[in-house]
Amino acid sequence: MGRNEKESALQSPVKVFIYVTAAVAALAGLLFGYDTGVISGAILFIKDQLHLSAALEEGIVSAVLLGAFLGALFSGAVTDRFGRRRVIIATAVLFAIGAVGAAMAQSVGVLIGFRLIIGVAIGVASYAAPLYISEVSPKEIRGALVSLNQLMITCGIVVSYLVDYMLAGAQGWRWMFALGAIPAAILLVGMFALADSPRWLVSQDRIDEARKVLGKIHDEENVEGEIKKIMKTVSQKEGSLKELLAPWVRPALVVGIIIMFFQQATGINTIIYYAPTIFEFAGFESHKVSILATLGVGIVNVAMTVVSIWLLDKIGRKPLLYIGLIGMAISLSALGIAFALPQLTEALKMIAVLSVVLYIASFAVSLGPIAWLIISEIFPLRIRGRGMSIATAANWGFNLLVASTFLTLTQTIGKAGTFWLFAALSVAGLLFCHFFVPETKGQSLEKIEEHLRSSKSLRALR
Ligand code: BGC
Repeated sequence: MGRNEKESALQSPVKVFIYVTAAVAALAGLLFGYDTGVISGAILFIKDQLHLSAALEEGIVSAVLLGAFLGALFSGAVTDRFGRRRVIIATAVLFAIGAVGAAMAQSVGVLIGFRLIIGVAIGVASYAAPLYISEVSPKEIRGALVSLNQLMITCGIVVSYLVDYMLAGAQGWRWMFALGAIPAAILLVGMFALADSPRWLVSQDRIDEARKVLGKIHDEENVEGEIKKIMKTVSQKEGSLKELLAPWVRPALVVGIIIMFFQQATGINTIIYYAPTIFEFAGFESHKVSILATLGVGIVNVAMTVVSIWLLDKIGRKPLLYIGLIGMAISLSALGIAFALPQLTEALKMIAVLSVVLYIASFAVSLGPIAWLIISEIFPLRIRGRGMSIATAANWGFNLLVASTFLTLTQTIGKAGTFWLFAALSVAGLLFCHFFVPETKGQSLEKIEEHLRSSKSLRALR
């Protein structure tokens, strides 16, 4: 066997293991997207059939988010205690129970209960799955995989829109929920077949098992070196909560939480969850046409996420944040103007639809992937897990806040006022990114840690 052949023979089982692992974990991202997106079409029919008030409608949409917030809060502790693999298996079970239960619900209360269960699964998975992937990936492809998770979320949203569209004729909201059980079942079976992450196994003193898993990721001669490296980091005890609040680390926590605030407070999920409703405000008559228009929005979201992943390491995070936030501010202002005028003429309807498209494209190149990426880069290693889990919980908390007030907001300050508020927040987000978010492109994590200690502008956040 020639050297190259030998190398590829060594490499191929390695690759298969990583691809299978990434594909399985990607299902958790897909479920995140599916189960949050599916509500946008389903709610139109639930509202008609169960005669919902605005408050109950918000309750159904928000139950998932409340569950996700709670799930994310506990995610750090449970993944450390029970291991990433077992926790993801448990979330797959919850995803499936939630999907079937919501599909069969006979009352609003039961529906809200099962959506809450799905939410807990999403909250835990949104932390555990990327963590698991990052711990089984060789470092060369780890960065790309963090953003791949976001791509899978957007794909899940598109699949949910597609399902909504196909089932709209039959008013089949129950099937819309039920179909979420399929990826959940595949996730469950897939995770059973996979091993736990080597880092967690070492932390449990299960060195032999860790060695076996590492043998599937690295060439044999590198396995011992990897084990040593992991043992070294594991032996540095995880930083305490107090350490997270130490003056030099606090800016990272503040940046992590505030970037999640802007990701949510600029209105993304009012578009994701309520796009068909917005299209109906804009005068699209049938539910089906509105859902079709929403499908277009989902596809733009996926496409622009791909563009962002491609550009992130080339032009950097901050230029993309600037472009995206400016686009969001412009499109939200235009959407506000369209709704402020007394009558939505054909031209204005067009402007409303184009604004939604420009808005989603701008979000997808910027705050969508970059907020998640920044929280995976900005915390010092020792407290990365805790920091990420708090920022993840903040993301779901702000998401909940916006979703549960959106309809009420449109009723009090008006639709135009609501979109203008989001536009103003986009401008505030732009200023925040300019002054406080560090450029992390091409920087080693150590360099970022160094910046955290010495930056003058970050000092203001201590
Ligand atoms: C956000 C979600 C949002 C999704 C849309 C994610 O980055 O966290 O709240 O629904 O992007 O693509």
